[in-house]
Amino acid sequence: MTSSANLRIDPALLEHLREDLAEADFRVDAVRERLGALAADALGREQSLPARRAVAGANDSLGVLIGCFGLGLPIPADTLGAALPRTGVTGAIALRIVEPHGAHLVATCDLRPYGDDLGNCWWVASDPTEHARSEPLPVDHVLGIGGASTTLASWTPRTPVARALDLGTGSGVQALHLSGHAETVVATDLSQRALRYAEFNAVLNGVEWDLRPGSFLDPVAGETFDLIVSNPPFVITPRAEGVPLYEYRDGGAAGDGVVAALTKGIGAHLAPGGVAQLLGNWETVAGQDWRERVGQWVEQSGLDVWVVQRDVQDPAEYAELWARDGGHRPGTPEHEALVGAWLDDFADRGVSEIGFGIITLHRPTSERAPFVDLVEATGPVASPMGPAVAAGLAIRDRLAGMSDDEVLDTAWRCAEDVTTETYAQPGATDPNVILLRQGGGLGRVVRLDTLDAALVSVCDGELTARQSLVAISGLLDQPTPEALESGAALVRGLAADGLLLAD
Ligand SMILES: C[S@@+](CC[C@H](N)C(=O)[O-])C[C@H]1O[C@@H](n2cnc3c(N)ncnc32)[C@H](O)[C@@H]1O
Repeated sequence: MTSSANLRIDPALLEHLREDLAEADFRVDAVRERLGALAADALGREQSLPARRAVAGANDSLGVLIGCFGLGLPIPADTLGAALPRTGVTGAIALRIVEPHGAHLVATCDLRPYGDDLGNCWWVASDPTEHARSEPLPVDHVLGIGGASTTLASWTPRTPVARALDLGTGSGVQALHLSGHAETVVATDLSQRALRYAEFNAVLNGVEWDLRPGSFLDPVAGETFDLIVSNPPFVITPRAEGVPLYEYRDGGAAGDGVVAALTKGIGAHLAPGGVAQLLGNWETVAGQDWRERVGQWVEQSGLDVWVVQRDVQDPAEYAELWARDGGHRPGTPEHEALVGAWLDDFADRGVSEIGFGIITLHRPTSERAPFVDLVEATGPVASPMGPAVAAGLAIRDRLAGMSDDEVLDTAWRCAEDVTTETYAQPGATDPNVILLRQGGGLGRVVRLDTLDAALVSVCDGELTARQSLVAISGLLDQPTPEALESGAALVRGLAADGLLLAD
């Protein structure tokens, strides 16, 4: 493939292209079926050989489109013309999605189907992926759909909103999702090439966005939104000579400065009740807890804060990941030099770990004190996570306005996805470990003591927590005031993550 973001935005031709792609069944499930699980899974790992073999010499439209736009294979002009009957070869060349190479046509971009769990099917054009190139990525590379894109899309609540912002839209992946539940979508990017792809994808998919060039929050100065999403250029990159600064992942600051600045600044653009969600990396200096560092970014903001750390890497793991991501192969001198630059950079700041996670901010609609919840959840979580995030924000909002007495005077019930596990020493009659396990949401596992376990076991939505705790503490011969105090804290924690529910 040759790379060009010089795509032409011709609404009539793009409508033809959309119809051709739909008619060829160029959709996520159909592509997987056409390739077969082995080749599709290998392609997901950026190993394209099995997929190339699966579509070698293909004449069916789906196989041709996969080969051309997914794998960068040269396609005979008449074969591509047959796969795109309305657009035609002339139309595809006019849109600049392919270029003639002798008797063949070669794609200038990656173009692939993309869907969500709500049944939407879109097509997304972006720069050719690493596996379709023979050399490292150029620094102005426009990213397609990656793991971070789908993580953010999964975690975003799909509640209907009036105004939504996608900050750093790239080829417009998040904006496509937003189109389904926001009346107005504003999408920004520093990169003009990215904005061109975003415009192409909006027209191709028949949606409208207010696309704006500019850095971070500059293009939306003085404006507020009900939902802001951002998969920002959060990668921590050494500011050292020879280290490429990719636009799609480097925001131009040392360390985790981009995510810190965005987290601090984004709240000013949240309408009352508005939610902002961004992905980020953060550094932990030896001896410090990540919560201290991230917590400082949101102190005094007046916003509710919910941060979930999903992964932790040491400096060497982080360096290997991002040196490899640009297309530099391990073992080459270039790769070694890059890893060295990362290790030096982290050593200069005494960084021992790098966290990755999702930052959710919420502007309360009342004067109540904001909640701050910084948690680790490194195991499997629900997919999509959006419904759990929406429910988590709603219950945290409610709990933040409740006194402990109000929590205790509520009748809670266990969510249906919650189970208990008990473990006992061989021969023992009573368990010495009782675990409460959540099947969905954050997949929380909570260890309970006897009193906690007794309380949870009677949470059926009939008795209030206070009624249960008074009875249980009497039975267990424990002081009731302490039982009420610890019980209220337990209920708050379990309710916040959706293990306990109330009407
Ligand atoms: C990781 S990509 C995310 C793309 C897409 N939103 C997604 O979820 O896959 C980050 C995007 O931020 C853009 N970007 C980089 N620096 C920026 C800045 N200073 N202001 C706004 N956008 C920026 C890049 O061009 C890129 O499109």
